[in-house]
Amino acid sequence: MITNLENILSDSAKRMKRSVIRELLKLTQKPEIISFAGGLPAPSTFPIDELKQISSEVLEEDGNAALQYSATEGDSKLRSILTQRYQKHGLTISEDNLVVLTSSQQGLDLAGKIFLNSGDKFICGLPSYLGGLGAFSSYGGIPIGIKFDKYGMRSDLLEATLAELLEKDDLPKFIYVIPDFQNPAGITMPEFRRLEIIAIAKKYNILIIEDSPYRELRFEGIPQKMMYELDASGQVITLGTFSKIFVPGFRIGWVIADEAIIDQFVKAKQSTDLCTSSFVQKIAAKYLEKGLFDKNLKGIIQQYHRKRDVMLEAFEKHMPKGVSWTKPEGGLFLFLNLPENMDAEDLFKIAIQKNVAFVLGSAFHCDGSGKNTMRINFSFVDEKECRIGVERLAESIKTLMSNKCLSL
Ligand SMILES: Cc1ncc(COP(=O)(O)O)c(C=O)c1O
Repeated sequence: MITNLENILSDSAKRMKRSVIRELLKLTQKPEIISFAGGLPAPSTFPIDELKQISSEVLEEDGNAALQYSATEGDSKLRSILTQRYQKHGLTISEDNLVVLTSSQQGLDLAGKIFLNSGDKFICGLPSYLGGLGAFSSYGGIPIGIKFDKYGMRSDLLEATLAELLEKDDLPKFIYVIPDFQNPAGITMPEFRRLEIIAIAKKYNILIIEDSPYRELRFEGIPQKMMYELDASGQVITLGTFSKIFVPGFRIGWVIADEAIIDQFVKAKQSTDLCTSSFVQKIAAKYLEKGLFDKNLKGIIQQYHRKRDVMLEAFEKHMPKGVSWTKPEGGLFLFLNLPENMDAEDLFKIAIQKNVAFVLGSAFHCDGSGKNTMRINFSFVDEKECRIGVERLAESIKTLMSNKCLSL
């Protein structure tokens, strides 16, 4: 075994940390624990029988191509189907604006690879998706967090921060946003806020990365236009994925951008993995072509809508005064605020003993704030477990509250 591993690591390897969430998930794997911690889709939404059938069809009809290397840009049929879907949703794009990726996490990584030199700044939300922060930080990117209000990233604070950074000739490379059913906060940015952020990005000539895994999981309310559509000048890069609207195991995502930016993604992907699996792309394309995707998605939305309602009802019933939470119109998560003086880390220890788990909100805050917050997933557990889990969580919060009173 090599004895000087630490000495030979690259700077970027030294910057990489194991995901706090993935580490926590290990803790929560005991069968007796009801876990609201992960961001996992419900396995009951996976169309196993149909995929068995389609996999054999692909092997029979197109086996050689399915098992061969394929174009870096992606399977032409899948690109075409995805492009048409976005065109229907209002985007003026052609297939040349879309490249298939090995998940949207690869898109985040490639964005870091393409745009960030060590020490470069990027803007993110307080809170923001941990996997995005990790990918950008591994290239030496420095996060500048912007606080949220009920509409998402505060545009007044964004403008003030950029003005200050411009003075120092240290403008960030991009603004990272998750406009629909944000992970972790569950907030959707209304159109006026999207437009404000786009106007600011234009004023300072910086890119926007619109990370959009949850957009199609809307249970209620009015869809807000994508930032890509609202901008129409090529300053927005959009990432999409099948992970939450089909199956995460396929690891299929995509990037949509101006052609000059797409060219950079193709070059960066070539040195990363050459191409995304031809086989899974062909299965996915056939699944969509047969019209099965939309039918299945309808079922996913119905199931998660119901689960969200069950969770909200349980919260209303059991949570003590002083605790508040977001009521997302879609997606997988809601975000819970404990009273200011309480620390979710203390709560976690009690909760684990009561066999319920969640993710600390502070993990999503690049400045270490958000100590009294927590992310709760409602897509994975079944309705019965959800009710029991919320009751245990509420009991844990009450225990922490009474411990606090005793120690005053
Ligand atoms: C905001 C956000 N972006 C990207 C991802 C990564 O998704 P994928 O499975 O496509 O890599 C996730 C996964 O939870 C996410 O929440």
